[in-house]
Amino acid sequence: MKKYFALLLAGVMALSLAACGGSSSAPAAPAETQKEEAAAEAPAEEKAEAEAPAAEAPAAEEAAAEIKTVEAGKLHMATNAAFPPYEMISDNGGFEGIDVEIATLIAQKLGLELVVDDMEFGSVITSVQGGKSDIAMAGLTVTEERKQNVDFTESYATGVQVIIVPEGSDIATVDDLANDKMIGVQDGTTGYIYCSSPVEDGGYGEDHVTSYPNGAMAIEALKGGKVDAVVIDNEPAKAFVQANAGLKILDTEYIIENYAIGISKDNNGLRDAVNNALKELIADGSVQQIVDKYINAEN
Ligand code: ARG
Repeated sequence: MKKYFALLLAGVMALSLAACGGSSSAPAAPAETQKEEAAAEAPAEEKAEAEAPAAEAPAAEEAAAEIKTVEAGKLHMATNAAFPPYEMISDNGGFEGIDVEIATLIAQKLGLELVVDDMEFGSVITSVQGGKSDIAMAGLTVTEERKQNVDFTESYATGVQVIIVPEGSDIATVDDLANDKMIGVQDGTTGYIYCSSPVEDGGYGEDHVTSYPNGAMAIEALKGGKVDAVVIDNEPAKAFVQANAGLKILDTEYIIENYAIGISKDNNGLRDAVNNALKELIADGSVQQIVDKYINAEN
């Protein structure tokens, strides 16, 4: 049954499989300790510059003069803010997390103000497609299927699907999930897609999967014994396990995925501007700095 997850890779998911038995990573800094300002409403400091005919303006700012957004002067980010440490609601009720901070810097570079549109994960792509939000940024895995609906920027992070079980569970490997277990996942995620696929395609079948509106609710179901395991991305998994006693992450086979920003296929100007801004932020180390702030450096 080891082939379960591996087989899926050959399907629609354009993913790469890490070496088997990869070691589990160091625990993440607990999301609750991140008290930094959400900075979701960053000032549009660079707006004046972006509009000035500055010949030496960086590429991203030049592009900003021409980009169209859903609301003038704003960059609307569709997300599901229940996915620590990428996006979550801070103690003061604002938004924080890796994606929120990167998006804030991208918006600044474009002379725009970031607005976070919090919604169910399953709606982030349709919100962009339907012209309600400008970017989908939600620890969003690049998949072939999603590429039919939105364009993706460069990848800025890597995600790994992992399995959370209660301590003392008889589930020790990916194979054990097949033993008539019930798996909890988040609606519309790659974890859902893998697990709910038919057995012949490497999944466990719809009947063995219960999907929840977000990861936290899947974890509650696990604690309440309604499901036997939760399949979710590794960093939120670490945050959830840290916040909930009696759960553990299996050190088992991994699927590695790439996170990127989804943008409308009808807005090449915005796509290129956001992608260029992101590339600059990767090149100058800003993205790494943000990641380090939320995730333990020893990973
Ligand atoms: N990486 C997974 C996916 O793209 C899960 C992302 C869930 N993100 C969230 N903000 N709830 O399907």
